This record gives sequence, C-alpha cells and structure tokens, in this order.
Amino acid sequence: MPKLPKLPAPPMPSALQAPPPRPGEGNGKVTPLDHAADAAVSVVDWVDERTSLSGAARWMMFRKVPKGTNWFYTLGSATMFAFLSQAVTGVFLAMFYKPDPGGGAYESIRHVTNDVFLGQFVRGMHKWGSSVMVILVFLHMGRTFFFGAYKYPRELNWVIGVVLLILTMTMSFTGYLLPFDQRAYWATIVGVNINGTGPLIGPYLSDFLRGGSEFGATTLSRFYAIHMLLVPGLLAALIGAHLYLVAKLGTTAPPWLKAEKNPDLRKASA
Ligand code: HEM
Repeated sequence: MPKLPKLPAPPMPSALQAPPPRPGEGNGKVTPLDHAADAAVSVVDWVDERTSLSGAARWMMFRKVPKGTNWFYTLGSATMFAFLSQAVTGVFLAMFYKPDPGGGAYESIRHVTNDVFLGQFVRGMHKWGSSVMVILVFLHMGRTFFFGAYKYPRELNWVIGVVLLILTMTMSFTGYLLPFDQRAYWATIVGVNINGTGPLIGPYLSDFLRGGSEFGATTLSRFYAIHMLLVPGLLAALIGAHLYLVAKLGTTAPPWLKAEKNPDLRKASA
C-alpha cells in the first residue's frame, strides 16, 4: 500500500504546545517514559490519519465564546454530567435489578441497599441524581430563556431542548415505579391516570404505559424497558444533536452586553 502523505498539523492552542527544551536541559538520554509517550502519540496519530477525528474534536472543544460568558453557561454541561452519572450508576443497578412484580423487584432493590458492597451509595447517587438532573435541566432552560438563546438561529436547539426536558421527566416517572413498593405502585397509578386525562392522546398514552387497560404484571416490565433502553438511547442521541448545534452556532452573548457594547445595534434600535 502506498504511504499516505502526512496531514498538516492543525493549529494547537499555545497552552497545550510542549515548550522546546532549554539549552543544557536533558542529557540526550531517552527514558522508558519518553518511549511510552511516543507510543501513545503514535497510536493517536495512527487513528487520526485514518479518521481525521482530531479536527472534529478541536472544532467541538476549542471555540471562541462571546464576551460576558458567565457561570450560568455551565448549567447545560452540568445537566449533561448529571445524565452521565445517571447512566453509569444505572448500569451498576441494572446488574442486580429484577423487573419481577411478584416481589422479586422489591427484593432485588432491598438486596442492593443492604447487602451489596457500596450498593446503598450507588443507589443513593442514582436516586438523588435524578432530582439533581431535573432541577438542572429547568435551571438551564431558564438561562437559555432569559438570555434569549431560543431566538433565530437557535429555534431548533430550543425545540430539541423541549424534547430533552420531556424525556428527562419520563426518566424520573418511569424510574419511580421500579422499586415496586407501596409508594411507587400508588404514585404511578396516580401518574398514569393523570396522563389519561390529557386531550386526544391521553387515553392511548395511559393504555400504552400500563400495557393494557389494567395496571398489571406487564406494566413493570414496560416501565423498565422504557427507563433502561428507549429513553436513555433517545436522550443520548438528542444530547449529541443539541451539542452539535451549540458548537455549530456558538452560544448567545448575554442580552445586556449586546445592547451596551455593540454601537451598530444601538444605532439600529435608536
Ligand atoms: C438533557 C438535557 C440537556 C442537556 C444535557 C443540555 C446541554 C446543553 C449544553 C452543554 C449547552 C451549551 C452550554 C450552555 O449554554 O449551557 C446547551 C445550550 C442550549 N440549550 Fe440545552 N441541554 C439540555 C436541555 C435543554 C432544554 C430543556 C432546553 C430548552 C427548552 C435547552 C435549550 C438550549 C439552548 C437554546 C441552548 C443554546 C444556548 C446559547 O446559545 O446560549 N436545552 N445545552
């Protein structure tokens, strides 16, 4: 196979560039650590030469952000990390959970809480993490609303955000039933009935959630499949689309800065 020409290195921020050795520094000896670093660079280069992924990573991560960017802009990433934490702790819980309405579900959660090493801790992280994610998603939505970030050209990202909000609420709702204790059972019956009162699709939605007209054995496995597979998959895909649009369009400057600092805009609005 002919050797491919080496791709030119895309610009790297100066903070990440290794400084050249100072005169007299190093004695020319190559240590095993240097070999290890070279090996890692070669592997990354090998993958990059065949995929050009480093360009995409730089495009995504090294972006200019508008003046006035502040801590409120971290709420979206905080929501994403809450989601990742839910995904990781959820995988460990799924290793022990049994979606068995005949007592097995409750027993498997009792086992995780009381017997499994760090089980109570991981379950606690997942349970509290779900509230954290719901609170963060609302705060993030408030930030984008009050900063006017839903306006042209970011309307589609707002719409994707609305779907993400609904999916986050669906995760909380379906997860609540899984311990299958009295509280989970009756709270979910109330929740499903509330869904049923919605216009047009309400009754179909509650039938779909119950897995029939009665709340029964199929309801738990249905909630489990929605909670474990359907909604997390949709969430991951839509967060990807949401972030792609954030990287493509950039973030919005705070509204007060636009009015104060941009003389052209001030002229136009006068
Ligand atoms: C799982 C839920 C969500 C995740 C992980 C997420 C993540 C993010 C991230 C990381 C950003 C860029 C940084 C920032 O501005 O905070 C962002 C921006 C944005 N998000 Fe979300 N988001 C979620 C839900 C929502 C919701 C519910 C809405 C609104 C209904 C929304 C609307 C937007 C908009 C309009 C932007 C652009 C902000 C700008 O241009 O300044 N997002 N999102």
